Amino acid sequence: MFPAHLHQQSSQMTPYASGRDHSSSSLPALVSIRNIVRRYEPPEGVPITALNGVSLEIYKGEFLAVTGHSGSGKSTFLNLIGLIDEPSSGDIIINGRNTSLFNEKERTEFRLNALSFVFQSFNLIENFTALENIAFQLRLQGYSKRDAHKQAQETLNYLGLQDRARLYPRELSGGEQQRIAIGRALVKDSFLLLADEPTAHLDSKNSQNVMELLSQVNREFGRTIVLVTHETEETAFANHTVTFRDGRITSDERAETENSAIIRKTSYV
Ligand SMILES: Nc1ncnc2c1ncn2[C@@H]1O[C@H](COP(=O)(O)OP(=O)(O)O)[C@@H](O)[C@H]1O
Ligand SMILES: [Mg+2]
Repeated sequence: MFPAHLHQQSSQMTPYASGRDHSSSSLPALVSIRNIVRRYEPPEGVPITALNGVSLEIYKGEFLAVTGHSGSGKSTFLNLIGLIDEPSSGDIIINGRNTSLFNEKERTEFRLNALSFVFQSFNLIENFTALENIAFQLRLQGYSKRDAHKQAQETLNYLGLQDRARLYPRELSGGEQQRIAIGRALVKDSFLLLADEPTAHLDSKNSQNVMELLSQVNREFGRTIVLVTHETEETAFANHTVTFRDGRITSDERAETENSAIIRKTSYV
């Protein structure tokens, strides 16, 4: 059986109609980012304002793509939502909790239990097998070894990588390593899956596979994804795209989806 929380999430999920006007929706945003500023002040040299007043709402079930040129503030933004870094000012509210008020212990616990990360360089543990890399995530969260291994195996089956279970990262292709890293993010019952340029080290075929897997995870499990990418074609997988320029959002668009088209059509009948 696949991890219980994944079944639960998918069955409880209402299909997300991204074209809907959320401002009139009664559902609160899963993430509310309110006027965040992040200034870097190196001891020597000129201060840099990496983010200069960014506000954004992310709804449950969205696949958000954050795009823009190199240096526009994308990674800074993702690190702030991921509680890896703290804003100079402004608030980040996740699932109703103002994370700006967290102490260091609360930040660490929230990162461990409520957020999943997928990195450019995969970040698998080299001396753990594919199965152990996924199971380790569950062990950190207090699962027994038996349950962790069972769920890890089911996740590998879902990824179509069951025959790679006993291989080490160095024995796997980059594409396989990144899919295992996505599996590790997926087994965690997190609010958000955060990915910073996850295809940057992959060839085009593996990039396509990884993007399709993220899209599938979003559709099948209603997993909320924030993807940072400078590849504009990758924004086609998302249903909400924001563009950064010089630390500000210059566009914020929700895409048409089949669902939103159906909603609109029925309202004209
Ligand atoms: N730790 C840091 N110290 C100083 N400047 C930084 C640091 N991290 C990022 N910056 C600067 O902040 C700006 C935004 O960087 P970043 O968020 O990494 O952009 P992107 O991910 O869009 O390429 C850049 O000018 C970058 O040089
Ligand atoms: Mg970056």
